[in-house]
Amino acid sequence: MIRPLKGTETRMDGKPKGLGKGLTNYGDMDFAHFLRRSFARSTGMSKSLLEKPVVGIVMTPSGFNNCHRYMPALVEAVSRGVLAAGATPMPFPTISLGEVFLSPTSMKFRNLMSMDTEEMILAQPVDAVVLIGGCDKTVPAQLMGAASADVPAIQLVTGPMSTGRHRGQRLGACTDCRSFWAKYRAGTVNAEEIEEVEGRLAVTAGTCAVMGTASTMACIAETLGMSLPGTAAIPAVLAERLVAAEESGKAAVALIDRPIKPSQVITGKSVENAFRLLMAVGGSTNAIVHLTAIAGRRGIRIPNRRLNEISDETPVLVDLKPVGEGYMEDFHAAGGVGAVLRELKPLLHLDTIDIEGRTLAERLAEPLKWVDRNFIRAFDNPISKVGGLIALEGTLAPDGAIFKRAAATPALFETTGRAVVFENLEDLSRRVDDPALDVKADDILVLKNAGPIAAGMPEAGYLPIPKKLAQAGVKDMVRISDARMSGTAFGTIVLHVSPESAVGGPLAAVRDGDTIRLSVKDKRIDLLVDPAEIRNRLAGVKRPPAPRRGYGALYDRSVLQAPGGCDFDFLTGD
Ligand code: FES
Repeated sequence: MIRPLKGTETRMDGKPKGLGKGLTNYGDMDFAHFLRRSFARSTGMSKSLLEKPVVGIVMTPSGFNNCHRYMPALVEAVSRGVLAAGATPMPFPTISLGEVFLSPTSMKFRNLMSMDTEEMILAQPVDAVVLIGGCDKTVPAQLMGAASADVPAIQLVTGPMSTGRHRGQRLGACTDCRSFWAKYRAGTVNAEEIEEVEGRLAVTAGTCAVMGTASTMACIAETLGMSLPGTAAIPAVLAERLVAAEESGKAAVALIDRPIKPSQVITGKSVENAFRLLMAVGGSTNAIVHLTAIAGRRGIRIPNRRLNEISDETPVLVDLKPVGEGYMEDFHAAGGVGAVLRELKPLLHLDTIDIEGRTLAERLAEPLKWVDRNFIRAFDNPISKVGGLIALEGTLAPDGAIFKRAAATPALFETTGRAVVFENLEDLSRRVDDPALDVKADDILVLKNAGPIAAGMPEAGYLPIPKKLAQAGVKDMVRISDARMSGTAFGTIVLHVSPESAVGGPLAAVRDGDTIRLSVKDKRIDLLVDPAEIRNRLAGVKRPPAPRRGYGALYDRSVLQAPGGCDFDFLTGD
């Protein structure tokens, strides 16, 4: 039996806490205590501080992660809160994923970061943790890791960027990156102006300034109850964000004697609440994959049918880019997640609890003094009566596909068109702007081999409009792939087609000139080719060769398709 260190605090249940727990076993536990204490003294912390309970602070700074640029200030503020509440802060690093600096795609490494997070929480002597993340894959990875480790944990996000200015117009990464690039491709913005814009899109520390994946995941973390209320949307540069960090540190200390575990917070009901919030904010398609993976760690599954029910019952209330007009700084000033949840109250499970032990009913009991209705609409005056995202099924996607109807062109919702097929990403970049490409505005662009196995599922689903059509004024077309799409992008785009083409999904059978039908009304995506012919064509599909070594081999062996959240099969919960 492990005896607590002399002078080390113990829980009420008598188990050691702080540095006295989880000792390295050399066969002599007293020696293990002694050795750990000796080495802990070399941190320069006083003996009395080393004898207190410990809050681990999972920090993710990286030169390759601009979205986490203020990490040192956040770590300091969390530490301040931990100290003020009577425990010892122990910051430690995990890998960090900076969205645009990773090849082939950050998505490939989300599960690696989740494993790093889970294992380090479990292996080190922490009584509770504060997880600090922000950029797209980091918050999902941290919540996945925390859900599996099931140690009391609080998510703190780095917060969104503030907007820049260009010739009188507000700009924010990265919806405006895409709209300006589309204008440049169409020839309405010249090389000189696009260079000016490049320096004005991402002007502060923090995550993308719109309701992209990072912001959507921050809002989801707050809705699940894993972040403190009111903290998801505080801009990165505000002093308020440091206060949120300090409060998160204090709240983590409170969890030590009154432990509330992620398994009590992330439940079927809180996951359904989070899906509702996702619909109401017109959030990112990527959040479906990430929330599925987080829920999957606790053995929770939300089928496509239920997703569509939630979407059809939940109005879009938030008017932010890429779906609407505002930016995250407007959303925060307008009332943030709390204001949206108050509007959705009749649809929510109010008996879920958050990391402070309060029910959602208690959290939402007090009405907000003011809500800016320019950005957060009332329930009975929605932007759209139905939710932003739906799942499609059909002969082209037997296991489903995702469609962001809030960001699509309604005139294209019921489209039957001729397929123009790109076999992979290289083929797409080689031919899409070829003046000789046989493509018309009412065709359907199809990209194969961009799913989890083939390519790590990059955000390539926002296929560019072929240059000759863009220059002729075409702004949107139906586009279909097994890829993902950036949360900051928009268009009539069918994503996450499952199974992916590389493992023999029907997408692999599509050929130039085939007819495809998209029906948003019926929530279907169909390849109008004889089923026997589809089977024939698929007989020749070969899975790409597996990498022989390292993380790539593990990934190839274990990654699930999009309906499984692209998690690893050995990490999901029962
Ligand atoms: Fe980090 Fe967009 S690049 S959130």
